[in-house]
Amino acid sequence: MRRHPVIQMVVIGAIASAIGIALSYWIHWFPADAAKQDKPIDTLYHVLMIVSIPIFVLVTTVILYSAWAFRMRPGQEREDGPPIHGNTRLEVVWTAIPAILLVSLCSYAYGVLTDIEKTHKDELVVKVHAVQFAWSFSYPQPGGRMVASDQLYLPKDRPVRFDIDSQDVIHDFWVPAFRVKIDTVPGIVTHLRVTPTKLGTYPVVCAELCGLGHSVMRSTAHVMTPAAFARWLAQKQAPASAGGAGGGGAPPTQAQLIALGRQTFTGEGGCGSCHTLADAGTTGTTGPDLRVLRGQTPADIRQDIVDPNARIAPGYQANIMPSGFGQTLTAQQLDGLVAYLGSVSK
Ligand code: CUA
Repeated sequence: MRRHPVIQMVVIGAIASAIGIALSYWIHWFPADAAKQDKPIDTLYHVLMIVSIPIFVLVTTVILYSAWAFRMRPGQEREDGPPIHGNTRLEVVWTAIPAILLVSLCSYAYGVLTDIEKTHKDELVVKVHAVQFAWSFSYPQPGGRMVASDQLYLPKDRPVRFDIDSQDVIHDFWVPAFRVKIDTVPGIVTHLRVTPTKLGTYPVVCAELCGLGHSVMRSTAHVMTPAAFARWLAQKQAPASAGGAGGGGAPPTQAQLIALGRQTFTGEGGCGSCHTLADAGTTGTTGPDLRVLRGQTPADIRQDIVDPNARIAPGYQANIMPSGFGQTLTAQQLDGLVAYLGSVSK
């Protein structure tokens, strides 16, 4: 007679587990599968799911069933249950099983982690720089030069090592299609390893609440063929070496400054991720629409960039805009921005 409800309980639990596991497979939970690291991580997730669902369901079933079957009925208020003095065999079993499970799952997860973080000889190094609220990427070149980009370009099938730092607060570099993510910490360089395996474009997001503009701190990762990547790199290097010859050459013309300013606004400066500016085609709303600059002098515009707390647009707060642009932008980029913003605010 006493076996009956227990068997019922186990059957209900088993059916519920089967439904739970089937659901976990039926719905495709994962983003695109675009890196070598994805498969082992997804498998780890599935194994953890399949091990945990039956345990969760069985425990819940036992609790719910017991609360219902052994509930106190009218007239039983003063009755005492049978005295229990422990059950050594039962206690050994319910300690040993979870211990074995935990140790084996942890070892498995540790194995997956060391596997996906393995270093490779032919790594492509990409520096990732986080600032409230934009990402920028740079590619060290022979001779110490850097190729900078506000979007992430990667060749397919080549292991990549990201060297990641932050200028202000803790952010978190995450490309969901590559699965792995890591915090960016001011003063520390963190690393992430990935081997992209699928051509396409994938979102880059910030996964750490970092301020008002957190939700717009996004970029795009482009996985391209090695040939296309080489072309992109070469093309990025050409204008950099022509325009960057500031030392000794003629000073840039006003038109060149404006062009550099526009490029800085949408690119490396990251201004567009927070500010709407019709001319640049940006629609950020963390900071004021830059129509507020209409009629301002170049000196005022420069102050707004390097000392953003000196005057605040009505309806906005101080200490939202980063105050380090005077250090992070080159003098020429700064001149460019002032020229460009002046030219579109006439
Ligand atoms: Cu940077 Cu959230």
